Amino acid sequence: MRIIMLGAPGSGKGTQAQKLQTECELVQISTGDLLRSAVAAGTELGRKAKAIMDAGDLVSNEIVLGMIEARIAQPDAGRGFVLDGFPRNIAQAEGLQSLLARNRINLDAAVLMDVPFDILLRRLTGRRTCSTTGQVLNIYFSPQAELDACLAAGGELRQRADDNEETIRNRLEVYEQQTAPLIEYYDERGLLQTVAADGPMDQVYARLLDVLGLDRPS
Ligand code: AP5
Repeated sequence: MRIIMLGAPGSGKGTQAQKLQTECELVQISTGDLLRSAVAAGTELGRKAKAIMDAGDLVSNEIVLGMIEARIAQPDAGRGFVLDGFPRNIAQAEGLQSLLARNRINLDAAVLMDVPFDILLRRLTGRRTCSTTGQVLNIYFSPQAELDACLAAGGELRQRADDNEETIRNRLEVYEQQTAPLIEYYDERGLLQTVAADGPMDQVYARLLDVLGLDRPS
């Protein structure tokens, strides 16, 4: 299965893509994670991307399309993938379409994670990533036991550089202007599925499996 996760920053794309990867063996391909790895590694691409990401703007289409092409070509992506945070505008969607056509790959769905706007800010300011496991957690919404387990295993709860209020506001604006038009784009192509993505994470996951026609592994 090949899926796109659409949705505003903080709508839970990464959280749910991680669960699909763990439980359904789909490969999570997050352009945000790939870019953050390049920033952490100090590569030339990472140096170019850092200032753009810190401002909450979009990195160039050419860079992200190149990253996606390389990642999809890796053998594990052959078992199916979830694109998390890509495409982000119509040009990227068109670029993806030709890339998939060249590789004779069909998309199964573009899933819109639909969350009321006022919830997004709290999710983003509360987000933390466990430094040892990479698990995405939240100081307001995650069970205390999960936060404690990260610390007990010697991890730190790290905040993303772009999860400050000023950058978050710009990311939300960029989403409205550039990414939200993809909802109509995929609807017109008969691929759009919408998931009500507020409420507990497990309930959101159950709704996601439902629209994708997947069974929860026992
Ligand atoms: P990216 O990393 O893609 O960030 P984003 O799109 O802003 O999305 P987020 O990761 O913030 O949110 P999410 O929907 O994944 O939510 P999450 O699951 O973490 O991009 C970062 C930057 O990279 C961009 O600004 C841009 O500069 C660049 N970039 C990336 N892709 C690009 C592209 N294609 N083109 C150009 N530039 C690109 O959840 C958020 C929080 O909420 C977490 O703490 C989580 O625990 C919590 N949470 C999740 N679900 C629930 C729930 N149901 N209830 C309570 N809490 C929940």
